[in-house]
Amino acid sequence: TPGVRSALEEKVASLIDSETGTIGPEIYADPYLHELEQERVFGRCWLLVAHESLIPKAGDFFASRMGEDPVLVVRQKDGSIAVFLNQCRHRGARLCRADLGKTKAFQCTYHGWTYDLGGNLVSISKSDAVGGDRIDKSEWGAIKVAKIHNFYGLIFATWDEDAPSFEDSLGETRWYWEAMFNRPGGTEVIGGVQKWEVPANWKFGAEQFASDIYHFDYTHVASALAMMPEGMEYQEPPPLEGRQFRDRGHGGVATPMVEMSDMQTAMAMGMEVMRYNQSTRDAHAKLVGEQAAKQTQFVHANMFPNMGILPLNQTLRIWQPKGPNAMEVWAWTLVDRDAPEDIKKQCRIKTQMTFASSGVFEQDDAENWTEIQRVLRGTKARKTLFNNMIGANESKDPSGKYPGRTDRAQSEAASREFYSWWRDLMLQPVQGE
Ligand code: FES
Ligand code: FE
Repeated sequence: TPGVRSALEEKVASLIDSETGTIGPEIYADPYLHELEQERVFGRCWLLVAHESLIPKAGDFFASRMGEDPVLVVRQKDGSIAVFLNQCRHRGARLCRADLGKTKAFQCTYHGWTYDLGGNLVSISKSDAVGGDRIDKSEWGAIKVAKIHNFYGLIFATWDEDAPSFEDSLGETRWYWEAMFNRPGGTEVIGGVQKWEVPANWKFGAEQFASDIYHFDYTHVASALAMMPEGMEYQEPPPLEGRQFRDRGHGGVATPMVEMSDMQTAMAMGMEVMRYNQSTRDAHAKLVGEQAAKQTQFVHANMFPNMGILPLNQTLRIWQPKGPNAMEVWAWTLVDRDAPEDIKKQCRIKTQMTFASSGVFEQDDAENWTEIQRVLRGTKARKTLFNNMIGANESKDPSGKYPGRTDRAQSEAASREFYSWWRDLMLQPVQGE
């Protein structure tokens, strides 16, 4: 109701102070805010739903999600892609209960209504016996998304008719996303999607990928890196040359790659993968420009709201919300389509070892997030403000080399951007609300 919504808006406004950089942690735990977030953030933003390599042929489908809403991403006979709500219009069962596959049509398992590849209702089961011909099938198709966009193989969709074009929605960060995904020969995802649940709010993953390289020297040095074999022990690196970039809620840290001699990087990625990456640099620079290719050799980033990328290890992921207190991470290994098979295989294995449910870095990160969420069960803890002020006084890249609103690498500028964009969306009603 409007009264409840305006009370929630007041709450949101009081929880995120974009000026000073404070966070009221109820944003990670309140079930009512979670509901509003589903409508106003996930109901409106462009969201990653699939990679086109998952559905190469007509009839191929991938069961995805847009926030908590299940959707089907389906390759059509004409080669285009349709995205629609995975919900039968009769009583609301899922149209398709498989995660991935190939089909000619979708038949609901409850009473057998059948939908075509575009989500249109084509048959009401036992139509003669039940008088199905009195129902206008054209009015009872699955609900379609408003817009779809293919960005270098990544498929995005939005429910919002009035959403800006996908490219415009990237704002000043577009330069970085283009450089990351416009690869010579294109990209593909391999090895299937790995899904696991983390008992922590999705925003912890998103914010960390957007902004937090700061945790590395403590979280991972004390854990993942302590296991390095002899001769590869961690040494504190020189200050990173890179910068944070941020706009319209998106954020990331982009930096030229530390050189081959950096054993940590080689360990995390694999020496041969690193050599392969170097061998593609010229071709990549031709596509995206010398400067963009160089500055995005190492990136971790979050495309608002919930797509994470860490090209160092080729992990591409979605932080799927699952109620306020949990997320489901969906992770793929993203590789160059033209890379040699043994390089692809090594990428997949390295991803498993670093950033996947079994990955050593992943486990360190998830432990932090679940730790915070556990503390937030306390009512005192939920009312206590968090400090998000690191790097608060820097706002411009002094070197002038980096587009977008940039800051030094170890900063919380992109985190403040993430939360202030989230706050702005949460304060704007969506159409029909
Ligand atoms: Fe799908 Fe009844 S719920 S046919
Ligand atoms: Fe980490």
